[in-house]
Amino acid sequence: MPNIDWSKLGFGFSDVNCHIRYVWKDGAWSEGEFVKDPSITMHIGASCLHYGQECFEGMKAFRQKDGKVVIFRPDENGKRMFRTAQRCVMPPVPVEMFLDAARRLVKANIEYLPPYGTGGSMYLRPLLIGTGPQIGVAPAKEYTFLMMCMPVGAYYKGGLKPVRAVILDDWDRAAPHGMGDVKVGGNYAASLFAHEKAKSEGWPVELYLDAKEHKYVEEFSTSNFLGIKSDGTYVTPDSHSVLPSVTNMSLRQCAEDLGWKVECRKIPYEEIKTFAEVAACGTAVVVTPVYEITRGGEVIAISSPDEVGEHLQKLYDQVQGIQYGRIPDTHGWCFEV
Ligand code: COI
Repeated sequence: MPNIDWSKLGFGFSDVNCHIRYVWKDGAWSEGEFVKDPSITMHIGASCLHYGQECFEGMKAFRQKDGKVVIFRPDENGKRMFRTAQRCVMPPVPVEMFLDAARRLVKANIEYLPPYGTGGSMYLRPLLIGTGPQIGVAPAKEYTFLMMCMPVGAYYKGGLKPVRAVILDDWDRAAPHGMGDVKVGGNYAASLFAHEKAKSEGWPVELYLDAKEHKYVEEFSTSNFLGIKSDGTYVTPDSHSVLPSVTNMSLRQCAEDLGWKVECRKIPYEEIKTFAEVAACGTAVVVTPVYEITRGGEVIAISSPDEVGEHLQKLYDQVQGIQYGRIPDTHGWCFEV
């Protein structure tokens, strides 16, 4: 058993037993093999290094109340990675292979899955990269798909604790017909400069507006945006340049199950001040309340920095309840390992 203080886990890399790795060559994927060494040797001309032929995913495994081990909606992550691979002209990983890799990986590292009650989970990070050499701009002829895992706690210090966000109009995340709707490293690279600037000035997260007009809310650097109206309506942006978040999709369903109205539509910047509650949502951040949003000289106060709004608390309890097996999984979201 690893010597881990589960209560102190943050969100970061840590060594485990192994990751699982596959190679695509001559039109076919290899059998997956477990690799102990967390480093990789590749050709210096690999297309992922030069032309950004890479994509990734993020999902979580949980130890449930009754001892069962489950992965939350890995089929949705598998489908999203399939779409992303097609967009990047990489050979898509068949969803069945993706699910098998996830199950095998969790089993092979089971002692690193945080015990029930600690609030921790195991983060699974699938990665697909062009490893064949390619100096003329074109897709590579060889690819590596791997999945790594690590035990994690809350993404932001303090768990379900409200954070403040900033809009920095000098930087955009994704162009209208760009790659914002798929999970490629380039979207995160595009946000790093603004992200570091925001953090150094006291905002843990930055919010992006649409790149064309800077009129509509898109998403945070690490996660989707959701707003709750005072009548309980759940509103989230509809945009081609926003990543379709599996957590957002799940929360929308939870909101409908709770009898709330759900709207997926354009959200003008001016509408932010009409929300009673705002949150960032995603696999890593789960539901993180945002109590204030700053843009230039304007500060929009949304809710209390010390309290979680009742709707966000309900959504958080609902989704975590399903993940940890405290609430019946009526939609079949938990895949047993
Ligand atoms: C996730 O929520 O899984 C993400 O990929 C966001 C971020 C940590 C990159």
